[in-house]
Amino acid sequence: MTILVTGGAGFIGSNFVLDWLDVSDEPIINLDLLTYAGNRQNLAALEGDSRHVFVRGDIGDTELVARLLEEHRPRAVVNFAAESHVDRSILGPEEFIQTNIVGTFRLLEAVRGYWNDLPEGDREDFRFLHVSTDEVYGTLSPDEPAFTEQHRYEPNSPYSASKAASDHLVRSYLHTYGLPVLTTNCSNNYGPYHFPEKLIPLVIHNALAGKALPIYGDGQQVRDWLYVKDHCSAIRRVLQDGRTGETYNVGGWNEKPNLEVVETLCAILDERQPREDGRSYAEQITFVKDRPGHDRRYAIDASKIERELGWCPEETFETGIRKTVDWYLDNQVWVENVTSGAYRDWVEAQYA
Ligand code: NAD
Ligand code: DAU
Repeated sequence: MTILVTGGAGFIGSNFVLDWLDVSDEPIINLDLLTYAGNRQNLAALEGDSRHVFVRGDIGDTELVARLLEEHRPRAVVNFAAESHVDRSILGPEEFIQTNIVGTFRLLEAVRGYWNDLPEGDREDFRFLHVSTDEVYGTLSPDEPAFTEQHRYEPNSPYSASKAASDHLVRSYLHTYGLPVLTTNCSNNYGPYHFPEKLIPLVIHNALAGKALPIYGDGQQVRDWLYVKDHCSAIRRVLQDGRTGETYNVGGWNEKPNLEVVETLCAILDERQPREDGRSYAEQITFVKDRPGHDRRYAIDASKIERELGWCPEETFETGIRKTVDWYLDNQVWVENVTSGAYRDWVEAQYA
């Protein structure tokens, strides 16, 4: 038994690979293109571990994927690979179309070919699990109920539109070809190995570097935060017992306005690593131009996965955010390594 994971050197993918091999001995073939967001250092703990086979490559390379499937004969594919940063999708949508739409399509084609040729029992047991986002549902007003799986798709950024397109393609492979697919739509993750272009790691990094903590617009946009390891456990549950063809929303019931998240981070840092001048990191908060088309509020109704699969998150925001700050304080070398020259150019372009 083996599974093929794509994008397993990124933030969520690497947490998933590490957690999977922590709780099971089933090997993983990890296919990742190692874009700026992919980092083999995340997987350093698996160096020399024969249960983990890393392959650098593109999900859009049908020939490569077909060869890997043929060679390793996985019982499931879990697709994390994507361009994932909304701001980058606004500055340059092309790669989002390429990987998230064309890449997913080509991956599906390779998987369909492999699955078609499997013996009867293996065909039934096979699963293609597509990891998606709550952003496909668009934005909520303050009083609207949280997104259920029935909520209509209303993506507002090139990123979320490309993820929505990939969800539709996955769905079509079930209805047209019978490929046994599962889709998860998750809210905002945070935790170890989160690339410091996203709000939480960016704020921790900038705070310690004495830089501005940029808040888009009025900072009252709401996100629903989930500790990454809880997302990984949800994916394991869905892969094991999810009903074929179903979609599962995954979230932490942790709605927070951005400004509150940043103030919480500042307060924890004030406690854990006080500024030399004795003042609060909150003094570094700076309001900047808003993100174009900025979604005002996301909230996930996670009752289906709870009811059907008995999954619920282990961390509250309060426990998860403290673990996260501690991880970053203990792993400053990792942060230094990922904040390379290319990263600094991007930050300059984004916040100019
Ligand atoms: P990430 O940007 O940290 O990692 C993406 C990984 O995919 C990287 O390792 C990158 O090298 C790899 N990759 C990119 N293009 C590729 C290609 N063409 N072929 C192979 N590998 C490629 O992203 P993440 O935050 O870990 O998100 C993983 C998945 O989860 C994405 O599909 C994202 O849409 C989804 N998701 C993310 C969040 C979140 O809060 N981060 C929430 C819900 C869903
Ligand atoms: O909801 C799930 C999504 O969460 C995932 O699908 C995406 O891959 C992931 O990147 C994340 O998207 P967001 O746009 O919500 O995450 P980000 O960390 O970029 O921003 C979180 C909020 O903070 C958002 O409202 C924008 C705001 N923000 C972000 C940055 C980087 C700021 O105010 N300042 C910043 O500098």
